[in-house]
Amino acid sequence: MNEKDFILRSNDLLPESGSHSWRSPSNIALVKYWGKKENQIPANPSISFTLDTCATTTSLEFKRLKEAGSDFSFELFFEDKPKESFKPKIRKFFERIEPYCPYLKQYHFTIRTSNSFPHSSGIASSASGMSALALCIMSLEKEIDGKMNDEYFNRKASFIARLGSGSACRSIEGDLVVWGSHKKTEGSSDLFGLKYPYEVHSLFKNYQDTILLVDKGEKQVSSTVGHELMHDHPFAASRFEQAHKNLDELQNVFREGDLDRFIEIVESEALTLHAMMMTSLPYFILMRPNTLEIINRIWAFRKESGSHICFTLDAGANVHVLYPESEKEEVNGFIERELVAYCQNGHYICDQIGFGAKKLDQ
Ligand code: DP6
Repeated sequence: MNEKDFILRSNDLLPESGSHSWRSPSNIALVKYWGKKENQIPANPSISFTLDTCATTTSLEFKRLKEAGSDFSFELFFEDKPKESFKPKIRKFFERIEPYCPYLKQYHFTIRTSNSFPHSSGIASSASGMSALALCIMSLEKEIDGKMNDEYFNRKASFIARLGSGSACRSIEGDLVVWGSHKKTEGSSDLFGLKYPYEVHSLFKNYQDTILLVDKGEKQVSSTVGHELMHDHPFAASRFEQAHKNLDELQNVFREGDLDRFIEIVESEALTLHAMMMTSLPYFILMRPNTLEIINRIWAFRKESGSHICFTLDAGANVHVLYPESEKEEVNGFIERELVAYCQNGHYICDQIGFGAKKLDQ
């Protein structure tokens, strides 16, 4: 599919008013998206686990205007309160998707959104937030184009979510999603996320992700600025090539259930992401002393217990602790005993692999 396939051609049957609500999860990348080209095209392919507990719930009320406006007309409430500071991002999103969703200026929208995770947890909400809004818009579009099938619905939801925030395109479905053109993944595309199409060993079913909140403050560097730093980065070309190779290899890992190699790839990806930030200009260190304490303790515990616990990181200080469901009891004990002390106010979130977004008002 190419970009033209996502343009809605007929605006004939516009509903007068209505509302749609979706709950959309966050996701955690195993092979990281870091670096992009024009129009939200990723510099390398990535793959993520869709999460379950960490999610955004959004409702979109729409009312048709007498005449199409010259600008987008919308109001936005975050946790029931008007939120002006979110509006520029939403306006930009509308601008980017308008060529594909030409009906937007025909409506006044009321957007109400809330997150399942605490507001200041240092957890990025752009993936769940943008995917939830994209899905609400697609539900409206489905009223306009009654013939739309589910596959196209999900694909276009992912396509427009990507235009809001790259990683959001991996939050529509579950439980593993590939985004970015990758030779060995048939059907993969730079334009939308694809549900991982190959065999996955049962060890990776119900994988757990405990998110240790090391620093709940605002991020030092936004992802958008971070991606920019990959332009002219001295190691960019080899990093992008490495992401392709890691994805190649993960196919065997998922099929065979090779947890040892899984751990190596996932931890190396996390550290590479941070290495890219440390070696860009300007350079940043987003890990905190407690991030390193946690990593060292995970390594020590893995060595002494033979557990398959491992970690990954986002562009921040928080640590995602990943482990198979069969090791839940043992790992939770270890987290309680040794890792909680390094979390800000002892806070952490227990999450696990999820299976994608859900419509709430069927
Ligand atoms: C480190 O999707 O937040 O989490 O496209 O600019 O909105 P924008 O960036 P964003 O970047 C996420 C980067 C990451 C890695 C990943 O999720 O793959």
